[in-house]
Amino acid sequence: MTLFANKVAFVTGASQGIGKATALILAKYGAYIVAVDISKEVERTAEEIKQLGRECISVITDVTNRERVESAVKTAIKQFDKLDILVNCAGIVSSSLLLDLPEELWDKTIDVNLKGVYLVSQAVSKEMVKRRTGKIVNISSQASKVGEIGNGAYCASKAGVNALTQVLALELAPYNINVNAVCPGYTDTEIMQKVFEIRGPIEQMTPADYEKDLLSQCAFEAYGQT
Ligand SMILES: NC(=O)c1ccc[n+]([C@@H]2O[C@H](COP(=O)([O-])OP(=O)(O)OC[C@H]3O[C@@H](n4cnc5c(N)ncnc54)[C@H](O)[C@@H]3O)[C@@H](O)[C@H]2O)c1
Repeated sequence: MTLFANKVAFVTGASQGIGKATALILAKYGAYIVAVDISKEVERTAEEIKQLGRECISVITDVTNRERVESAVKTAIKQFDKLDILVNCAGIVSSSLLLDLPEELWDKTIDVNLKGVYLVSQAVSKEMVKRRTGKIVNISSQASKVGEIGNGAYCASKAGVNALTQVLALELAPYNINVNAVCPGYTDTEIMQKVFEIRGPIEQMTPADYEKDLLSQCAFEAYGQT
């Protein structure tokens, strides 16, 4: 339970879904958490983490806003002095065929999913560079690698995250900062409720053996659903 002892993790999108599960798991394994989200619900995540006996602060921040992102990082440094881990998890889906895709929806999706990763990574990695150490994990998507009907802006934003991850990995390696992306498949969170009404076909496409899969077990444990 001490894999991340004394590490400080800055997790965006921590109000719910994958971001919340990530924050809870990191805390469970010893990390101090900076839980960041545009939604006030992030305060609830912080409460749950404190109940695990770990230190946590919640910061309500829009990852598309440079000033607010920089202020969130300042708050984190003031509280914990350092940042060891960044998980860029905040994201939105946009569901529309290209022929109907409104420009505002394209802009918003690219802003949150791609510009958000750029802004948060830049602000956090400036702190990591000072200490010559850090780990950054960007939550991309399988959708970055295959085309999905009705998901043009989302697929493009996540492909951008992959490219940005590769560049950051190269640029930050000299400072001993590792940058990786994870590409989850369909995961049953709130975001998916907005897109898919039919679970059956998705479940058939998804290889899952919860008894053998360590991460799923951790997530289930974190949510108290073992
Ligand atoms: N659920 C899936 O099937 C799936 C699959 C692949 C990748 N992903 C990716 O995983 C990440 C998390 O997805 P999820 O399923 O947990 O979604 P979710 O909707 O449950 O959670 C997303 C979180 O991001 C926050 N957020 C949205 N806009 C924000 C902004 N501007 N600033 C700060 N926070 C903001 C939301 O408030 C929410 O708490 C996303 O990047 C998503 O694209 C999800």
